[in-house]
Amino acid sequence: MHPALLHTHNALRWVILVAGVLTLLKAAQGLKGDRPYAAARRAGVVFMAGLHLQLLLGLGLFVVSPLVQQAMADMRATMATASVRFFIAEHPTLMVVAVVLATVGSVVAKNAPDDAARHRKLLVFTGVTLLLLLAGIPWQRPLVPGMGG
Ligand code: HEM
Repeated sequence: MHPALLHTHNALRWVILVAGVLTLLKAAQGLKGDRPYAAARRAGVVFMAGLHLQLLLGLGLFVVSPLVQQAMADMRATMATASVRFFIAEHPTLMVVAVVLATVGSVVAKNAPDDAARHRKLLVFTGVTLLLLLAGIPWQRPLVPGMGG
């Protein structure tokens, strides 16, 4: 159970990052007036779906991960050890904030009065969300599932 969840959680990060960058590009093209909002929206929906699924997988990992169970057994030691604390505190916090921000952004953009405003809001919210994701991803871990390390 844990390896399957962890591997899926690992790989899905790339789907999310690619969808996020595509959303940014399409929103930027839309701002120049080259594209309808539907194109940016489509990429944005994939970004959102990936983020929500990743949130569920992350919550699942929080329950079944031996790393989390061991960390919870001695919270004083965990909070004093940056590498472990990252998975209990920084990683989940940054990621939940990122998912909430992307979700709010997608609604705010959708409800904006015209396509220029929709593209602009989608661009800003997606950009900040991507920065939070990049800051919160444990890059010290394998870049693809099962790579070792
Ligand atoms: C939504 C965006 C998220 C992204 C892009 C993301 C990405 C990642 C990545 C790349 C790893 C390393 C996987 C590996 O070592 O193979 C990881 C590990 C982990 N993530 Fe996330 N994550 C996200 C959200 C969350 C959330 C919301 C939680 C908890 C509520 C969470 C909990 C964990 C835990 C506990 C681990 C380590 C599990 C273990 O080693 O047993 N993640 N995450």
